[in-house]
Amino acid sequence: MAVDVILGLQWGDEGKGKIVDFLAKNYSIVCRFQGGPNAGHTLKIDGNKYVLHTIPSGIFREGIVNIIGNGVVIDPITLSKEIENLTQTGIEFLSRLLVSNKAHLILPTHRYLDAASEASKGKQKIGSTLKGIGPTYMDKTGRNGLRVGDIKLASFNAKYKSLRDKHLALLRQYPPIEFDLEAEEEKWFKCLEVLKNLQAIDCEYYINKAITEGKQILAEGAQGSMLDIDFGTYPFVTSSNTITSGVCSGLGIAPQKIRDVIGITKAYCTRVGGGPFPTELFDDNGAKLGKIGMEFGATTGRPRRCGWIDIPQLKYTLMINGVTQIVVTKLDVLDHFEEVKVGTKYNIEGNETDELPYDLTAQQITPKYQSYKGWHTDMAGANDFDVLPPLAKDYIGQLEQLLGMRIKYISTGPERKSLIVRD
Ligand code: GDP
Ligand code: IMO
Ligand code: MG
Repeated sequence: MAVDVILGLQWGDEGKGKIVDFLAKNYSIVCRFQGGPNAGHTLKIDGNKYVLHTIPSGIFREGIVNIIGNGVVIDPITLSKEIENLTQTGIEFLSRLLVSNKAHLILPTHRYLDAASEASKGKQKIGSTLKGIGPTYMDKTGRNGLRVGDIKLASFNAKYKSLRDKHLALLRQYPPIEFDLEAEEEKWFKCLEVLKNLQAIDCEYYINKAITEGKQILAEGAQGSMLDIDFGTYPFVTSSNTITSGVCSGLGIAPQKIRDVIGITKAYCTRVGGGPFPTELFDDNGAKLGKIGMEFGATTGRPRRCGWIDIPQLKYTLMINGVTQIVVTKLDVLDHFEEVKVGTKYNIEGNETDELPYDLTAQQITPKYQSYKGWHTDMAGANDFDVLPPLAKDYIGQLEQLLGMRIKYISTGPERKSLIVRD
């Protein structure tokens, strides 16, 4: 067994990129297994900030192979922009960036369909990143999609045109939206050449061979468990399995090959886009979390909704993922609060529970909070548990008790080195 998984336990943006970048040094291969350019994973290394959308967050570690797995959907335009940005940093990476033949392609018309579908939903809109994710996964499951391995086929252009025309017909069912297909197509085909030049692999063989050779592999999740297509706050979710099970289908490995599942939660909670969020704050504390935490989407720049950490929600995602190690990020953001709260249970129509109901929007959920005294000490950047103020240590201890699991890593700043590793 040599595959460890890092994934988000909330609604995304938990700090996955930072933690993957930190831990990647212990692995030979880092792989993305689902999602696409709806993800925005931020890394901060020696004062320089990088945002990755499709490329795995192990890319800054010299000598490590990074794989875009079959479960990922790729927009050649975003990918070639990312490649261009990385090239400018001067790191050597092209020979270490591999892509699965079975990963699906996002067409310009997938993005238009996303936009038209969202516009037609009015107030019920998901708040999609509009990167074409939903329509591309629909074509995948509908058995119409185009894959990386198709690019080299003589019939590729014909297949592209057929799918594009299907999309254009579908678009006519929606109120019109504006787009310039000719210009976008020209760009898309140009960027396809960049993708063509990457080494395409049969990811399932590559990874299983690496496992047999005893190599250590890290699977990097995108989005968060509460955005999972099956177990998230449906329909306000993304279109892939963001949970541990997605690693098996998204890379082609068997469940027993998975060793540790490293689940990440912020020390509070955020969500971007629509959908239920039981512990959301609409007061000064919510605004303060957003301001200090600089809670703006790494992909869309939209402000993230903020609230206190939610124990029933976390217990649920610990369960469905089989988490073996917990990471708490952004503890430093709570440095200057009078009090820090934790949602410990839900009150649903007079009944207290710590289980999530079938539909979080159907009933009125009132979270029950436990309040803790704030520590009022600047400990940003700390990488030793012993230097944390006693009240911050207590807060971590309380979370451990409520979650019934030890917290192994605590992140105290965006920088790679601002991380406490506990034995
Ligand atoms: P991801 O999508 O899970 O990789 O997370 P994002 O990159 O979208 O959002 C996390 C944001 O928090 C980024 O701006 C990170 O630089 C930042 N960040 C990560 N860990 C910490 C931390 O411990 N403290 C602070 N203050 N910021 C952090
Ligand atoms: P990372 O990997 C936070 C949200 C969108 C929207 C819903 C569906 O950076 O954590 P989609 O574009 O998939 O159709 O959007 O999911 N969403 C994310 N929220 N972080 C992400 O990725 C997200 N990717 C999608 O805001 O509510
Ligand atoms: Mg993000």
